Amino acid sequence: MGGLKGIGCFDSGAGGLTVVRRILQERPDAAVTYLADGIHWPYGERSMAQVGGFTRRGVERLEAEGLGPVVIACNTGSVAWPAEERPAGSDVIDMLAPVRAEIARRAPERVLVLATRATVDSGRYLSAMQAACPATHFTQVAAQDLVSLVEQGNWTQDSALASARSALAKAPRADLVVLACTHFGAVTEVFEELLGDARVLDPGVLVARRALAAGPIPAGELRLLTTGRDLRRLRRAALRILGHLGRPVRVERVEEVVAP
Ligand code: DGL
Repeated sequence: MGGLKGIGCFDSGAGGLTVVRRILQERPDAAVTYLADGIHWPYGERSMAQVGGFTRRGVERLEAEGLGPVVIACNTGSVAWPAEERPAGSDVIDMLAPVRAEIARRAPERVLVLATRATVDSGRYLSAMQAACPATHFTQVAAQDLVSLVEQGNWTQDSALASARSALAKAPRADLVVLACTHFGAVTEVFEELLGDARVLDPGVLVARRALAAGPIPAGELRLLTTGRDLRRLRRAALRILGHLGRPVRVERVEEVVAP
């Protein structure tokens, strides 16, 4: 189904737009539909069972529109509705697979995974990475306040630096820090400033490449949809994350998808 009507991207809020930004940097005219589950944000404060259900329904909604490939542009959603639970033959792209391959390729000694509270508490991201890269020592730390800062769309260099510093202060030094929450991709340069470019991995770049390689992606509009009520908040964050790319940024509300 690659590229029938364009790429579909799903996240709890504005974070997945950091993946969209990477897609549009490579293919500025690509047709992209983005769905934020704003009514249920933040996923990082919910259970795996809840997030898994919301993610599955969000993906199914995008697929029902004929979009493909569909990207789970959310690390919490990617671990809460893992590949093993998706239908056989699903062409859904998640946040983990390209990172696993990249870490296996780089083989760093010590990796720090920075993620939402739910991702960290589940232990699933860490065990997926550890299984693929047994020689690497992984640690993890939650940075849920950085999710909120980005979601509000009004962060400053100083507030992002303070939040990033306080997250890193809780963890041992690592050779590579994985920004395992798409919200953090909005402030990648802040982490690069603190750690140096070579020690920061923003999975959005790898995931965007994988989405563009999935098939012929048609040219078309950028649609931003949310189940949330606060359209202004998503628009503000979208302007910060995508504004400079010159595509019109309009946000539409859609009904919450309820379980069948
Ligand atoms: N952006 C999401 C992630 O990559 C979820 C953030 C949240 O809703 O807490 O995990």
